[in-house]
Amino acid sequence: MKRLRTALIGCGGFANKHAQNLVAEAERFELIAFCDVVEANARRYAGQYTGGQAAVFTDFHTLFEQTPLDLAVICLPPFAHRDEVECAAARGVHILIEKPIALTSADAWRMVQAAESAGIQTQVGFMYRFGAAIERLKALIESGEAGGLGLMSARYFCNHLHADWWRKRDLSGGQLVEQVIHIVDLMRYVMGEARSVYSLQKNLFHNQMPDYTVEDVSGTLVDFANGGVGVIYASNGAIPNQWISDYHIVTQKITATFSDANHARLVFTGDRDNLRTEEIASEVDYYLLELLDLYRAICEGGTTRTPIREGARSLELALAAARSAESQAVVALS
Ligand SMILES: NC(=O)c1ccc[n+]([C@@H]2O[C@H](COP(=O)([O-])OP(=O)(O)OC[C@H]3O[C@@H](n4cnc5c(N)ncnc54)[C@H](O)[C@@H]3O)[C@@H](O)[C@H]2O)c1
Repeated sequence: MKRLRTALIGCGGFANKHAQNLVAEAERFELIAFCDVVEANARRYAGQYTGGQAAVFTDFHTLFEQTPLDLAVICLPPFAHRDEVECAAARGVHILIEKPIALTSADAWRMVQAAESAGIQTQVGFMYRFGAAIERLKALIESGEAGGLGLMSARYFCNHLHADWWRKRDLSGGQLVEQVIHIVDLMRYVMGEARSVYSLQKNLFHNQMPDYTVEDVSGTLVDFANGGVGVIYASNGAIPNQWISDYHIVTQKITATFSDANHARLVFTGDRDNLRTEEIASEVDYYLLELLDLYRAICEGGTTRTPIREGARSLELALAAARSAESQAVVALS
């Protein structure tokens, strides 16, 4: 089995999830380098996950120059994305990149261009696409059994101060762009492409707090090209330290209630006199599945489930929602 020489760029809180899976899949991945602007973070990761064997860098340019790699796992905060995708692409290094891939559309499409013209494999960290219940519904949609798509509503509730950078709109993009983009992407995955969006975004609970400039309450309405409607409502003023993300999907022949991407109750409504119910309950680790899908694409070819172009498209929709909230107008998508 091919073992991919892997580096992790950005060794903060979330990168632990990927590091754990990379170590658990040691037959496939060899963690050989860690990079963080804070050297102590990279060194801590090297110690914890490789017993100090891996190399440590504070600048990803030096990492790419000095280390032959097959894969870079990029866990940078939104504001810190620069030319790391271009650096990887120039050397034929495949990437797993966390969302949001950038803070502007122009930056995102520059990354897509670099990756696609180099022909590297890319996966964006929208792991909910790998949830067992999402996979089941997606299969029913693709086979035609679900019938036409009507509505998807989704909730994202939390109440946490997050990192300093997260609370600043210019560094994170806001709750929708940084966090609820998971739902934006999932909606695109299920419902197709959007043609317009309208969003209300307000800071109601944290407006007395210095440097908290992102929204903490929002409602977003999406008009999909196939005629379907999307509703996303989010808050960072809900139950302290609880993350709640659930969704409802109505198609012509199925009404689905998801408590998360792995758990759903599907009611088949095609025969109204004979309703049938299917429960999906799985504990699959969708972060691991996302990584293994990338490994398969690197070793066997084909595309990943969420190539970087998908990251750019979901970012465009989230940014359009942010523009809509600013302008108080419907924003059309090209
Ligand atoms: N997929 C998910 O479920 C999920 C969950 C949480 C976070 N994330 C994403 O992961 C990314 C990181 O989030 P986090 O919570 O780990 O943030 P964090 O602030 O905990 O960690 C970021 C790390 O990047 C380092 N860094 C900053 N600039 C750098 C640079 N130029 N080069 C190298 N390192 C640099 C920081 O020093 C820090 O150690 C974000 O984009 C976030 O949205 C994804």
